[in-house]
Amino acid sequence: METDASSLVDGLTLEEKIELVHGTLDPDGKATGYVPGNERVGIPPLTMVDGPLGVRAMGEQATAFPSSIALASSWNPELARSFGVALGREAAAHDQDVVLGPGVNIVRTPRGGRNFEYYSEDPHLTSRMGVGTIEGIQSEGVAATVKHYVANNQETNRYEVSAEVGERALREMYLPAFRAAVEEADVLSVMTAYNRVNGVHMSDHEYLLSDVLKGEWGFDGLVVSDWWGTRSTVDAALSGLDLEMPGVELEAYLPEEAVEDADPSDDGGELPPMPDVPAYFGDPLREAVESGEVPEEVLDEKVSRLLRVLEAIGRFDDDGSEGALDTSEHRELARDVAVEGTVLLTNDDALPLDDSDSVALVGPNADAAKLGGGGSSEVTPFTDTSPLDGLRERAASLSFERGVPPIAESSFFADEGGPTGDAEASIDDAVTAAEDADCAVVVAQDDATEFKDRAHMALPGDQNELISAVAEAAERTVVVLRTSGPVEMPWLESVDAVLETWYPGQADGDALADILFGDADPGGRLPVTFGRSAEDYPTADEEAFPGVEGKAHYDEGVFVGYRYFDDRDIEPLFPFGHGHSYATFEYDDATISETDDGFELAVDVRNVADRPGKEVVQAYARTSAAPVAVPDRELVGFESVTLEPGASATVGVSLAREDFAYYDEDDGWTVPEGTNAVLVGRSSRDIRATFEVDV
Ligand code: NOJ
Repeated sequence: METDASSLVDGLTLEEKIELVHGTLDPDGKATGYVPGNERVGIPPLTMVDGPLGVRAMGEQATAFPSSIALASSWNPELARSFGVALGREAAAHDQDVVLGPGVNIVRTPRGGRNFEYYSEDPHLTSRMGVGTIEGIQSEGVAATVKHYVANNQETNRYEVSAEVGERALREMYLPAFRAAVEEADVLSVMTAYNRVNGVHMSDHEYLLSDVLKGEWGFDGLVVSDWWGTRSTVDAALSGLDLEMPGVELEAYLPEEAVEDADPSDDGGELPPMPDVPAYFGDPLREAVESGEVPEEVLDEKVSRLLRVLEAIGRFDDDGSEGALDTSEHRELARDVAVEGTVLLTNDDALPLDDSDSVALVGPNADAAKLGGGGSSEVTPFTDTSPLDGLRERAASLSFERGVPPIAESSFFADEGGPTGDAEASIDDAVTAAEDADCAVVVAQDDATEFKDRAHMALPGDQNELISAVAEAAERTVVVLRTSGPVEMPWLESVDAVLETWYPGQADGDALADILFGDADPGGRLPVTFGRSAEDYPTADEEAFPGVEGKAHYDEGVFVGYRYFDDRDIEPLFPFGHGHSYATFEYDDATISETDDGFELAVDVRNVADRPGKEVVQAYARTSAAPVAVPDRELVGFESVTLEPGASATVGVSLAREDFAYYDEDDGWTVPEGTNAVLVGRSSRDIRATFEVDV
């Protein structure tokens, strides 16, 4: 039955309306967030669940997909869409109405604890992946929640820190993915970040919530606080926050030890005070409405937004989707994303392995799948394969040595996990195993988690020593990095190949075997720059990160990621956009032509290898005509193509005039007239053709 949902507001008492603007405990105990609805007038409840890497319904299992940064490495928005569809289906199967994801914050520092939950240092790539994921989720009758709005770029002191960021950097770097989520993907829900922006907590930020998000972009869905992230009653209500979450105590979510672990004041910072729950949008808001401080129409509008979301996902109809859980299709998809997200950083003819090669698998945690990082994105899968499982299936002959003791993994929800069985380890044993095999595969990892930034960019424990020792002894050494982002590679010159598989999720070992033996092409390209150390990045100074006296100064402005490396002429270890295929591609006959609203690029790409492979053609704009300092190049388009041996294709990339715009602090978005340039290449630093264009 069709209901005109908005008219339901009129039939509610003040008390009843208040019940609809804060969360409460889910009677089924599964949801991360729960709004009770109202039986009297026929408003169904709303269930919300984490998160970006798979469904984390409490006490339940679901498909553990690769981390968001792995998905982004595919540079494949269609794959993101398929992932979103699967995520939506799994949420529906667990009776959840809203997914608390995707996270589209920009990777600003390589030390960010949640970088694995985000896509990229680049707003264009982030926007494309975000839009694909959101459209997929919402096509299944489940609402997506784009988070964390905005400038949530660190975990240190995350509840208080103020991102001191200029308007131009906000507009060009930090806001675009949220804007695309609203304007292109019609996202139904937006989660505010814990942090402040220019001094104001995001849950109170009238300019960014009311003026920009709801005003300029026309967002008509729900603005939801992060969990315990509401900081006031009247300011938040008048600034545009619609729903205070979760309205229940922290202990309802995490075991006591995890609460203690999660709350060290030198990391994520103290949780905001929770005098009573709901602290702000319960009785205090009712009183503020009664006293006239908050007009009742403001409250009505918040309830209308909730009703709009319920209506958009069909909760007033009877035919809600049943969803699907842990299907063979979802298992395959988890494997496909892991394969397409794997980046072959370097390969000195070491890969792919021959079917007959004997392999010495080495690595402290190589007998456990690397499902994800710690925190609210943790997922408990039905099944998983470790590198050891995957290679056992595929390799002609296999040995396994840990080499060094297991690396501890932060986890807040898993009952078990990490390496199993005998945890004895010796570098000498690993060296002996490596000497006896045709190839040594060393699986190394970091440990990233929500609540905490990484202390540095080095691999934890003695993994660097292990890799160096094995590389010296082995005939061939392949390093497999299961990391949240860039790590230092002091052994790079002595190994023969390096694969970055990020946090590959439940299909870890299967996907790794597919790639090592060449059953699949490593389809990934870097969505973040790999510097040589954390010193290479604009966040090297304490003032910039994690900040001093509660302020993180974003003085680098728009020069984040590769924009910074280019501007400062810093040679990265591996540049943004980099990644090898097992095939080899040649570029020919690149042309550019004007269209009604921009340009059309065309480039002939030929696979000159004797095996199929995937190539990602990348287009960068250089806004030379701008009167302000601009990045040397900025990603504005990309297109991938998979080619059989000897085959060629013309790859087209469409560019709009707006792709050349910069944000002028007085005049807003401005396209600089005059001669600009378009660069086409295989990565941000491997440019194959450059065109001057008159815009
Ligand atoms: C806090 C996290 O920042 C957010 O991403 C998550 O959705 C909520 N907790 C709920 O678990």
